[in-house]
Amino acid sequence: MKSGTKQATEKRFLNPTRQSAQATAFSEKLGARIVGQDTAVQGMSDLYQIFLAGMNPQHRPIGTMLFLGPTGAGKTRVVEAAAEVLFGNAYAMVKIDCAEFQHSHEIAKLIGSPPGYLGHRETQPLLTQENLNRMHTDEQKLTIVLFDEIEKASDSLWQLLLGILDKATLTLGDNRRVDFSKTIVVMTSNLGAREMTELISGGIGFTSGQGNNKRVVVEQLDQHMERTAVEAARRKFSPEFMNRIDKIVVFRSLQENHLRQILDLELRAVQERVMAAGTKFMFECSNGAKERLLDEGLDTRYGARHLKRSVERLLVSPLSNLVASDQIEFGDLIYVDVEGEQLTFEKRSAGPVLSDFEEVVDQKESEALPYTNVRIPVRHVRMIQLPIGLCTIS
Ligand SMILES: Nc1ncnc2c1ncn2[C@@H]1O[C@H](COP(=O)(O)OP(=O)(O)OP(=O)(O)O)[C@@H](O)[C@H]1O
Ligand SMILES: [Mg+2]
Repeated sequence: MKSGTKQATEKRFLNPTRQSAQATAFSEKLGARIVGQDTAVQGMSDLYQIFLAGMNPQHRPIGTMLFLGPTGAGKTRVVEAAAEVLFGNAYAMVKIDCAEFQHSHEIAKLIGSPPGYLGHRETQPLLTQENLNRMHTDEQKLTIVLFDEIEKASDSLWQLLLGILDKATLTLGDNRRVDFSKTIVVMTSNLGAREMTELISGGIGFTSGQGNNKRVVVEQLDQHMERTAVEAARRKFSPEFMNRIDKIVVFRSLQENHLRQILDLELRAVQERVMAAGTKFMFECSNGAKERLLDEGLDTRYGARHLKRSVERLLVSPLSNLVASDQIEFGDLIYVDVEGEQLTFEKRSAGPVLSDFEEVVDQKESEALPYTNVRIPVRHVRMIQLPIGLCTIS
């Protein structure tokens, strides 16, 4: 009897930070694609968890986020990567490049023209319910909507945006209503980017220090950047807009260690491109070759953008030449090294692995390579992964 009373009064605390397995898997997969922007990854995962639990506020989108921060830091990429994880395709979202809607008349491309207007029937507006629901499945009725570079939007686009954020509805030119309550709305802006670039350039002098000192300076730099970005946004955007946003994430400046990891992701992406092309081959980069790519692409003012250019110029371009001139053939393994400033490309025999690969290329059965849409013959998944693994996240 006594123990029964004890049981009845015993407090049972729950763990409100524990996420579901599905949300955890989402956040892990997103985290594997995004380097150094944990707050943004967490923000996306939180919204996904709200969606899964069906706890989104009524008559509002599931969640709204504003991504601020320096150029090339991953603002757009986080949203693309989320679409990739959820729908298997980085473009499986409704993306509005606000720069394309700087004039009020261009809004017709988004919502269509009123009946009777010239071109009413020809215009296929972007923001229809059908387009929004395009990615829905029976299990998952969710759409990601990205308004990229919102500082470039016209006043009329602002009006649309306010309605979407506030009531999750939009009225099309022909008066049809579009419901945004099943959407995650992300807006990006690099407002304050110039000041941030100056801060990063100034900060680089300090950040060349070592260890703890360097970490402290980088933290200070990030805090300073955060203030700069949010102040710039408050100056430009109206309070009614800022108050409708659930979460503002300021992306941090990417440092050398981040760019190193991004290089691995980029090399992997190049390998995936190769696997999707006609002449499928594998390549492996030596540490020296990676250092050379980093050397050329390391400019923290431009985030990963500079690095991507260096990969295209020093690696993709010569590989394309080698394929086009038949020096690389189907099934080859190419070893990329460095000599002086130049990357060198050596054909290495991969023995039975590659001849096996060639043998079964026509097989119907196929399996997706991890994190991609590329499908390869089932029997060879293990073999193919071997060289790709050499270029994966370390
Ligand atoms: N944090 C990151 N993790 C992984 N890849 C990244 C990251 N940041 C940038 N990249 C790579 O660099 C490319 C450019 O980044 P992204 O387009 O996201 O920049 P952004 O922050 O949107 O810049 P902008 O303000 O100029 O639009 C991405 O497509 C991706 O390949
Ligand atoms: Mg962007």
